[in-house]
Amino acid sequence: MRFSTAVVSLACAFGVVAAFPFNGFVADPATITECGDETDLLKIHNYTLTPNPPQRGQNLTIEAYGNLSEDVVEGAKIHLIVKLGLIKLLTKELDFCTESATIHKNCPLVAGEQSLYHSVELPKEIPPGKYLVNIKVINPDDKQVTCLIARAQFGVKKKKKGPRKDKNGR
Ligand SMILES: *[C@@H]1O[C@H](CO)[C@@H](O)[C@H](O)[C@H]1NC(C)=O
Ligand SMILES: *[C@@H]1O[C@H](CO)[C@@H](O)[C@H](O)[C@H]1NC(C)=O
Ligand SMILES: *[C@@H]1O[C@H](CO)[C@@H](O)[C@H](O)[C@H]1NC(C)=O
Repeated sequence: MRFSTAVVSLACAFGVVAAFPFNGFVADPATITECGDETDLLKIHNYTLTPNPPQRGQNLTIEAYGNLSEDVVEGAKIHLIVKLGLIKLLTKELDFCTESATIHKNCPLVAGEQSLYHSVELPKEIPPGKYLVNIKVINPDDKQVTCLIARAQFGVKKKKKGPRKDKNGR
């Protein structure tokens, strides 16, 4: 499933940054927000997604900076959930060090300032809709490295607030 590959490769970036899938023709910009608390080991300073909104069949580049207060070590896990609307498409537990190696970040990921610059080619065939990706990274001592929520929207079905038009276009 190329779609999850894209998600995973981004998820691993940084030791931590996020996953994004997808996008479409009309869409709101994609966002990444932290959903953990003060005790999370990673603090994200900032990030940029290019292009934003992301486009199907194009490269999505993420650039992110953060600060890690403790090493992320061998045995750390990534908990990944991907939803399309209310539907859970994927729930997966991955080995952090295995995944991070695929983007040339080796374990342990040493505490200190972190930067990430990574591109992933988005599949052409991403179904339209609102995607939510929740990524948690947990060290073997159960300390949470980060909790991130990435949101992106693809294609066609842009929802606007306000009344819907009826069949006659009113
Ligand atoms: C993001 O944070 C890094 C490191 O703190 C800083 O060097 C960079 O200027 C920041 N970029 C933006 C766009 O704020
Ligand atoms: C995405 O980036 C790769 C590597 O830089 C490049 O080979 C590829 O042509 C790019 N794809 C698109 C659709 O721009
Ligand atoms: C990064 O975190 C370390 C340890 O928590 C701290 O000493 C340092 O000042 C932080 N750096 C930045 C730029 O926030």
